[in-house]
Amino acid sequence: MGNNVIINADVEKAKINKNIYGHFAEHLGRGIYEGIWVGEDSPIPNTNGIREDVLEALKNLNIPVLRWPGGCFADEYHWKDGIGPRENRKRMINTHWGGVVENNHFGTHEFMMLCEMLETEPYICGNVGSGTVQEMSEWVEYMTFDGESPMANLRKENGRDEPWKLKYFGVGNENWGCGGNMRPEYYADLYRRYQTYVRNYGDNRIYKIAGGANVADYNWTEVLMKNAHWMMDGLSLHYYTIPGEFWTGKGSATDFPESEWFTTLKKALHMDTLIRNHSTIMDKYDPAKRVGLIIDEWGTWYDPEPGTNPGFLYQQNTIRDALVAGIHFNIFHAHADRVQMANIAQTINVLQAMILTEGEKMLLTPTYHVFEMFKVHHDASLLAVDSSFGNYELDGEALPQVTVSASKDADGKIHISLCNLDHQNQSDVDIDLRGFDLSSATIKGRILTTDQMNAHNTFEQPENVKPVEFTNAKKEGQSLSVTLPPMSVVVLAVE
Ligand code: AHR
Repeated sequence: MGNNVIINADVEKAKINKNIYGHFAEHLGRGIYEGIWVGEDSPIPNTNGIREDVLEALKNLNIPVLRWPGGCFADEYHWKDGIGPRENRKRMINTHWGGVVENNHFGTHEFMMLCEMLETEPYICGNVGSGTVQEMSEWVEYMTFDGESPMANLRKENGRDEPWKLKYFGVGNENWGCGGNMRPEYYADLYRRYQTYVRNYGDNRIYKIAGGANVADYNWTEVLMKNAHWMMDGLSLHYYTIPGEFWTGKGSATDFPESEWFTTLKKALHMDTLIRNHSTIMDKYDPAKRVGLIIDEWGTWYDPEPGTNPGFLYQQNTIRDALVAGIHFNIFHAHADRVQMANIAQTINVLQAMILTEGEKMLLTPTYHVFEMFKVHHDASLLAVDSSFGNYELDGEALPQVTVSASKDADGKIHISLCNLDHQNQSDVDIDLRGFDLSSATIKGRILTTDQMNAHNTFEQPENVKPVEFTNAKKEGQSLSVTLPPMSVVVLAVE
């Protein structure tokens, strides 16, 4: 079977919310400490304690939204421990992640400062599992109330006169598991109660996100939507791509056979099924799709790198991760009418990271490069695409060889992103671009590819995998003829 794509350049569907290119940074391993926060006295060059190399690299991604402080950490985090003079802040045990001491040096002020530096929207996850309604309510007051109040006064005492703008607030995390092991009925009631006190002060308007399902727990979505859909703006979903099994061996990030490459990509494609099924349930209660599906944790999860603290979830990142990222983005685009945000887990040094650091050294991962290449889709209009692709087969199983999506930006430029999943074979794709005059158009492209399934960047060779110019897209009348090498992610610009 040939690989054929029809793009209807004059049929604009939903807007691709740039928030699907969102991030997640938890107090976990070396994600915050060392990865972002080194402190003002560090020999690592920093601005107000935030390391400069990481800051510059992240700025280049135009990160639209950043979720913090967890994750599982959120439901044991008490925000008042993280304000005031740093030397006085309470030290606690990070029980979820390695049992290490958390000194609370990176707290609300530091996080908000980071968001301001990155020009990103903060997305704060509140504590339902071990926190009180009062604590959650006071945090929102502390951050957003402008005027005379106990929490606003405390904020001012801590050096911040103006309230911050806070749009996104999550009411708990994984409350079916590390966030309290609750049943959906119980959490739905708690959600209704806690969110009541997440107030809109002044002109600050909070987009409230309810803690959603784990993978295919459709009952959780059903119960939450039935009992609370009118009190939420978003409902979350968590799904990780794990080649093996969660408890018995997830698989190595860099040392894997071709069967594991295949399984990983198959499991990444499963995100499409999950979104369809959860959306169908949401449609029942919210046919107008007012409530966003917020995929605020996704990405690959492998065994930790040998020799590292297993509680730190530190893993390498190869061209396989780049494919996983590209596959997810093409899926999220296709569901742009319901998926309003997604947050990769996690930004630095944890799981499917953009950046890895080792002391003062830093490298950009293949996943970073996919986020950078796909920036062109931020807030663009999704275009109607019909496609049929040949199979990518291994051991009697088949996947589509290619995934694709297309969007039109505010200047009328069209961007087409293509992923060739096949680790061995190139893919010849014909793209019929309708509703657009190709005759005088220019075609530019970038590609991320390698010839080894486990190619990755190291501190010694940080540019092993990086995007280069792509010249294998040729105009043929109203069509584009594109040759995708094996294991490649390509973004074309047509204008
Ligand atoms: O991202 C790592 C962990 O995965 C998060 O803390 C938790 O929410 C999820 O189980």
